Amino acid sequence: MAQTKEQRILEFVLKNAVHGDPQSVVDHIDKYCSQKEWAMNVGDEKGLILDNVLKEADPAVALELGTYCGYSAIRIARLLKPGAHLLTVEMNPVHAAVAKQLIEFAGVQDKVKILEGPTEQIIPKLKTDHGVEHLDFVFIDHFGNRYTADTKLLEQCGLLRKGSVLLADNVVYPGAPDFLEYVRKSGRYDCTNFPSHVEYTDKEDAVEKAVFKG
Ligand SMILES: C[S@@+](CC[C@H](N)C(=O)[O-])C[C@H]1O[C@@H](n2cnc3c(N)ncnc32)[C@H](O)[C@@H]1O
Repeated sequence: MAQTKEQRILEFVLKNAVHGDPQSVVDHIDKYCSQKEWAMNVGDEKGLILDNVLKEADPAVALELGTYCGYSAIRIARLLKPGAHLLTVEMNPVHAAVAKQLIEFAGVQDKVKILEGPTEQIIPKLKTDHGVEHLDFVFIDHFGNRYTADTKLLEQCGLLRKGSVLLADNVVYPGAPDFLEYVRKSGRYDCTNFPSHVEYTDKEDAVEKAVFKG
């Protein structure tokens, strides 16, 4: 048996999902994590909110903060229009290695680039090292204590344009009160809250959409 939960998720997917089929990979991660071992993917219920907000934003350039096993990256990549791409930031090398294999197995490696390192170091280099002009969509899903600082960093680095869509997971559980206060009260964002549940449970959670006013 694989040593870490993330490796066991990978093993289950490689054994049971359809190679080159991102939906099958997403479904099998959900199956494993709802039936065998809980894991911190955005999950199937909040994943539908992510799908809908992403489809509406229809990004050419998307950023994710917090890759973990690549579940949401694959979920996002399967909906990107031709030529669009996702940059996803992960500081834990074990997680990044699992994500790389799952992203390749799902067949979306041409649309997704994993950037390894802490967000606070990667964000300031997005323009210079990764050719980003502006971000159309940002999925914020790393650790809540970084949500506000990294949002302000995105602004300071000139990465947001009028209409850029931020979507933040886990704003109720574990919670990101300072982030909610910032995006709702700074006057810089139009916000919408989507009540939902913690992945694979009936515990209350929510996702917050914040559209940058420019
Ligand atoms: C909730 S998981 C991400 C789940 C993923 N978005 C999904 O839905 O499939 C959070 C991940 O963020 C990573 N992380 C936490 N803080 C970070 C930071 N400052 N920079 C980069 N990655 C970070 C953790 O190592 C972890 O893998």
